[in-house]
Amino acid sequence: MPRISSRARSFPDSPIRKLAPLADAARMRGIHVHGLNIGQPDIPTPPEFLEALRGYDAKVLAYGRSEGEPELREAFADYYRQAGLTVAPGEIVVTAGGSEALLFAMQIVAEPGDEILCFEPFYTNYSAFARMSGVTLKALPTEAAEGFHLPAEAAIRAALTPRTKAILLCSPNNPTGTVLTAGELDLVARLAEEHGLFVIGDEVYREFVYEGRHTSVLAIPGLERRAILVDSVSKRYSACGARIGCLVSRHPDVVAAAIRFAQGRLCPPVAEQRAATAVARLGLGFFDPIREEYRRRRDAAFEGLQAIPGVHCLKPAGAFYLMAELPVSDAEAFSRWLLTDFQKDGETVMLAAGPGFYADGSGARGRSQARLAYVLEVPKLARAMACLAEAVEAYAAVRVV
Ligand SMILES: Cc1ncc(COP(=O)(O)O)c(C=O)c1O
Repeated sequence: MPRISSRARSFPDSPIRKLAPLADAARMRGIHVHGLNIGQPDIPTPPEFLEALRGYDAKVLAYGRSEGEPELREAFADYYRQAGLTVAPGEIVVTAGGSEALLFAMQIVAEPGDEILCFEPFYTNYSAFARMSGVTLKALPTEAAEGFHLPAEAAIRAALTPRTKAILLCSPNNPTGTVLTAGELDLVARLAEEHGLFVIGDEVYREFVYEGRHTSVLAIPGLERRAILVDSVSKRYSACGARIGCLVSRHPDVVAAAIRFAQGRLCPPVAEQRAATAVARLGLGFFDPIREEYRRRRDAAFEGLQAIPGVHCLKPAGAFYLMAELPVSDAEAFSRWLLTDFQKDGETVMLAAGPGFYADGSGARGRSQARLAYVLEVPKLARAMACLAEAVEAYAAVRVV
């Protein structure tokens, strides 16, 4: 049998998805699994999106433009204008989700072997995109005690090397929920200017901020040509399956390169772009009730966790995740046990274990942490938290015997 490449062999399972077979087996045994492991919102996709999809009546579902359909690029530019950002449609490249925008951004800014500086814990797929690109993700730790905000300037400076090509920021953050301040972005802008770096801003949760204000990398003076915004309709319009996102840059070479990459994969999904155009025109008021719903869920998840002895977490300011410290020595083993050995009245919970959100991934960091996504309605979240409380107690008992 031929042998697959070392890159393929060493590519890890997604820490968010790898327990899925155990969850399926639990469901087969009739157990209800509260899925807190993945950021799949249950907020209905807007009817405007689904109607546009149903109304797509072309005789042939043909290839579209590599850079995205002009109507969608214009609708996105309008959306950014309403959000206070001046972006021309020509500075927007439509991608297959924020995922493809991240992959393009990494490959545009860095040679294989170069470094991108990021801050851990981070969205676990950054590691996947970096591996696909041959780029080294150099991760500086952020700490719960500091609200998972950026480390001190001296620590960031010390981590920059001649091979560093970009700083990757995620705000509002997955998995911590932290929203970076304008001051933090100014610091990054200053360092980027001094060291000739790009700044990749992953802002796919930009509409979900409950405390403070979201500042975009595109709004920071000094980053005009350095900022690359990664964005997506997945979470914003609860349309994860549409696979529509974008890369935005005011650097002409970055846009031109992104379009060349885009030509290599021909075009993003065409009918879904029509649907995304319909929702991109809904205006910013569309997000108010959704943001309030997430705020209620955040409060319910936070209060539920606070009530569990030994569990510690911060109240997140944005996105829909929180990173919790659990009273277990190995959150991965605990997450497996939840699916294989535990149930309370026919229910259990599914978590994403902490180590996968750290560059090292071995468990040296984040070993007793888990990420929870508060993507369920408040009554369901309350049940899930009650179930988790029972599980933590039961686990302590089985570990003692
Ligand atoms: C921080 C962050 N960036 C990017 C993505 C990719 O999203 P998509 O490819 O669905 O747009 C996700 C998905 O969960 C995310 O959490």
